[in-house]
Amino acid sequence: MRCRKCGGKAVINMPQHRLALCKEHYLAWLPEQTERFIKKYRMFTRAEKVLVAVSGGKDSLSLWDILHRLGYQADGLYIALGIDGGVNYSAESQRLTEKFAAERGLTLHVVDVRAETGKTIPEWAEATWRGREKPCAVCGLVKRHEMNRIARDLGYDVLATGHNLDDEAAVLFGNTLAWAGEYLLRQGPVLEERGGLARKVKPLCRFYEREMAAYALLRGIEYIYEECPFSAGATSLYYKELLNRLENDRPGTKLAFYLNFLEARRAGLFAERSEVQQALHPCPGCGQPTSAPGLCSYCRMIEKGRDSQV
Ligand code: AMP
Ligand code: FES
Ligand code: ZN
Ligand code: ZN
Repeated sequence: MRCRKCGGKAVINMPQHRLALCKEHYLAWLPEQTERFIKKYRMFTRAEKVLVAVSGGKDSLSLWDILHRLGYQADGLYIALGIDGGVNYSAESQRLTEKFAAERGLTLHVVDVRAETGKTIPEWAEATWRGREKPCAVCGLVKRHEMNRIARDLGYDVLATGHNLDDEAAVLFGNTLAWAGEYLLRQGPVLEERGGLARKVKPLCRFYEREMAAYALLRGIEYIYEECPFSAGATSLYYKELLNRLENDRPGTKLAFYLNFLEARRAGLFAERSEVQQALHPCPGCGQPTSAPGLCSYCRMIEKGRDSQV
């Protein structure tokens, strides 16, 4: 396989774009495409301050690397969740994230969930669910809460996450199976700021997971290979597997599924739902916006788990 630009040896083939590239041209192509998507979806400008949520995985570290290369003002946020799972998951991902930032002289904010709330994520899960459920729901709640709090308190214009196409297509697949209108309406490359919730963007949403893995590898980015130990058996992984089978037989299916959805939404397929979007008001507990009648779901979780002796 030859690079389409220079005829050299290709390191990656992207059948959905009918494009194969050598290392040098791939490492140039991916940031160029990212720049194109940032502009196309009006994610942010070079005058704005971006907070990149970095987990220590290939996607978010690559995103930070790309934004830095493109000359955006991008600082990092790492949330220490306190997950061990026998593989030292949080400690190792924190170490790699801090190393990445230090080597490039980038600003990284670290929030320690235990220091903030008195318990780690697995302890909160135990305290609220008594071990009946995996910590993932609690974890998502805490991450969203902390990301928004830091973005707001430190004056960032926009919050960027490393979700790739495989992540987005899997979520879309789940929401479509359930015809979850409210979620479908809110899914996309940009979630506009509203009522105290920071603007959220996903600049990598059009790249396949394998493309991000190739980028991280070719750039020499050290990232944590392990998935979160609680992710085993997650429905989203099952959906990813199904979509990969489709993709294998028909290259481009995943991208078309996602892009055609964005087009349908733009054309108003879910428009009438926008009127039923609930109004936001500040939570009496933490002050962050919520649509719940009383305390927000984060504060309800804290309330429920606080007195538990875990
Ligand atoms: P995940 O939900 O683990 O697939 O992660 C999706 C995105 O959320 C990542 O690409 C990161 O941008 C962000 N993220 C996940 N975990 C963390 C964390 N511990 N600290 C900061 N950001 C995170
Ligand atoms: Fe949060 Fe796995 S439970 S990353
Ligand atoms: Zn080339
Ligand atoms: Zn609250």
